[in-house]
Amino acid sequence: METSVAHQSVGTGWLTSKAIAPSILSANFAELGAQVAEVMSAGARVIHVDVMDGHFVPPITFGPVAVSALADQVHTAGGVLDVHLMIERPERQIPDFLKAGADGITIHVEATPHVHYALAMIRDGGASAGAAICPATPPSALTEVIDTLDLALCMSVNPGWGNQSLIPHSYEKLRRMRAGLPDRIALEVDGGVHTGTAAGVTGAGANLLVAGSAVFGAAEPGQAFRELAALAWPPQ
Ligand code: DX5
Ligand code: ZN
Repeated sequence: METSVAHQSVGTGWLTSKAIAPSILSANFAELGAQVAEVMSAGARVIHVDVMDGHFVPPITFGPVAVSALADQVHTAGGVLDVHLMIERPERQIPDFLKAGADGITIHVEATPHVHYALAMIRDGGASAGAAICPATPPSALTEVIDTLDLALCMSVNPGWGNQSLIPHSYEKLRRMRAGLPDRIALEVDGGVHTGTAAGVTGAGANLLVAGSAVFGAAEPGQAFRELAALAWPPQ
């Protein structure tokens, strides 16, 4: 089987960029290619893919086959696939997501006793390594793996569902996370990002903003993407 190796040439510039990352969790799956094309023509370059296994979180979404189906389209348009694994024991699935064309893979520190091993596996496979923490997990959970980390993900809702409200404590948590991370590590925030919260999370230090319902739940996802980006990083 031919596999995508595009993640080896995409680069890592997206990690330190300021970007809204539309989450396809809220997209119309029957029109997935067209929905992704719409946000990419509006300027999106980081496409967020929420993988759920029915164990770490109750819902089941999609796996490597869906990542593979989007990989060529996203890479050809100059984008990256930012894959968020909400699954138990992610180290067992990472090789398949690498083969499918993931550019970044984020695991949950709560989902495996082998966080360092899993992050190293992601990097060895040529992708960027991310670690996510749930609302109850302190930022110190990342301290011992900072040298193996490219992206830190602050869950600003409990993982599992789109269209929840951002937990207000997240602003202060993001500030502490940013202060404890070197500049080269991306700080991503995921959950409840919309026009009312985008400026707050960027002000707290997040540079990658996942947005599902705020983009794909809108009548015009491309327009919603542009409005959110303008609010998150107002033109000077
Ligand atoms: C939640 C997922 C999110 C989700 C965010 O568990 O990790 O990426 O799509 O959805 P919104 O932006 O609607 O809160
Ligand atoms: Zn996510």
